[in-house]
Amino acid sequence: MPLTQQQLLGIATEYGTPVYIYDAGHITAQYQRLRNAFAKTDTRFFYACKALTNIHILRHIKNIGCDVDCSSINEVKLALHAGFEPGTILYTSNGIHFSEIEEAQRLGVRINIDSLSNLEKFGKKYGHSYPVGIRLRPNIMGGGNLKVSTGHDKSKFGIPVDQLDKILALVSAHDLFIQNLHIHTGSDIKDVDIFVKGIDVLFDIIPHFTELESVDLGGGFKVPYKEGDPETDIERLAQKVAEAFANHPNPNGKHLQVWFEPGKFLVSGAGYLVTEVNVLKETAATTFAGVNSGFNHLIRPMFYDAYHRIENLSNPTGAKKTYSVVGNICETDTFAWDRELNEIREGDLLVFYNAGAYGFEMSSNFNSRFKPAEVLVENGEARLIRRRDVFEDLLKNQAL
Ligand code: LLP
Repeated sequence: MPLTQQQLLGIATEYGTPVYIYDAGHITAQYQRLRNAFAKTDTRFFYACKALTNIHILRHIKNIGCDVDCSSINEVKLALHAGFEPGTILYTSNGIHFSEIEEAQRLGVRINIDSLSNLEKFGKKYGHSYPVGIRLRPNIMGGGNLKVSTGHDKSKFGIPVDQLDKILALVSAHDLFIQNLHIHTGSDIKDVDIFVKGIDVLFDIIPHFTELESVDLGGGFKVPYKEGDPETDIERLAQKVAEAFANHPNPNGKHLQVWFEPGKFLVSGAGYLVTEVNVLKETAATTFAGVNSGFNHLIRPMFYDAYHRIENLSNPTGAKKTYSVVGNICETDTFAWDRELNEIREGDLLVFYNAGAYGFEMSSNFNSRFKPAEVLVENGEARLIRRRDVFEDLLKNQAL
C-alpha cells in the first residue's frame, strides 16, 4: 500500500517542506516482486545505489537481503559504512582513475572494469590473483531517452564488444581471472527483448571466458510514472531469461549466476517530494503555482522532460483547475505545464510522486537554497534520516 495523502500531509506538516519522504515497505515489496519473479533462476540483485544513497536506505536494502552496486569509490565506502560485506558490494566503474580500482581491490569488493587501459593496468598489477568483471558495450539501443541510453554504439560506457580481440589479448597476456561479464543498456527499458538481445550478445562471447561465474545484465527496469504508463514486465523477463539460459548451456560447463542492478525499480515509487505553494500567478498563458522547490531538488522534469504525478494534499476534494507547477529558482524550472489539479491556494502542499530514484540524489544547492530534509517511514513510524540544510552548510567548505 502506498503512503496515503493523509500520512504525507501529517509528515510534511511535522517536518516542514520541502521534504523527501520514503516508504521502506515499498522497497521491500519491490524486492520481493523481483525475488518471486526470478525464483526459478539463480539470480542475484545488486541495488544501484546511485538512485538514492541515504545510509538508512542502504541499511534497509541490506536488511532485506539485497546486495549493492556502486558507481564511485565513495558509494563503495557508504555501502561498507552501512554494513554491507565487501563480497556483497559491486563497483561498476566508468571512466575512473586506476587508483580508485586499486582502492576498491584493497577494500575487497567486486569490480567491473570498463576500459581496456584499466583492464591492462589491473592485469599487470594483480594478474590472476583477484577476480574481476568486464563491463561491455553491447551496441544495443535501449532506454527511455538518449540521455539514459548507455549500450549503443556511440556510448562512452563499457568496452565495445567489437573489441573482443583486444580484451582476449589482455586476458591471456596477464592471465586475468574474469569472473563476471556486465552490460547495462540504459534506464526506463520497457521492452523485455532489449534484455534478451543483450543476453544473445553475451552468449556469443561467453565461450572465451572459461572461469566465468556470473552474467550481469545491469539495471534499467521501467517503472510507471503516470497512470497507464507501461512498465517492464518483470515476470515475462524472468521467463525469457530462464529460457535463454536453458537454451544456451555454458560450453565451459560452469554454472552461471544471473545478476541485475535495479535502481529505479526498488526506490522510485518509494519516494515522495512534498512542497508548499508560495505564489499563485494568473497570466494569459497559464496559471502558475510556484512551489518552494525547483530543479535544485528534483531535476528530472527539466533534465529528461520526465513526468511526475502531482497532487494537492491540502485540497483533495477541490474542483479541478489547470495549473503550471514551477519552482522558485532563478531559471526556468517547470515541473509540469497545464496540469489538472484540485484547486490550489497559496500555502497548499503539493506532492510529487516517484521521487525516490534520482530525486534527492541529484539535488544541489543551486541559488544557495537548502537541500530538503529526508524522512523514512518504516513499520508505520516516520523518522528524520537527514536534516534540512542550515545556513552554515552553505559555508562549511569555503575558506573563511
Ligand atoms: N547499473 C548501471 C551500471 C547503471 O549505470 C545504472 C543507472 C543502473 C544500474 C540503474 O539503472 P535503473 O535501474 O535505476 O534504471 N538519472 C536518470 C537515470 C540514470 C541512470 C544511470 N545509471 C533518471 O533519473 O532517469
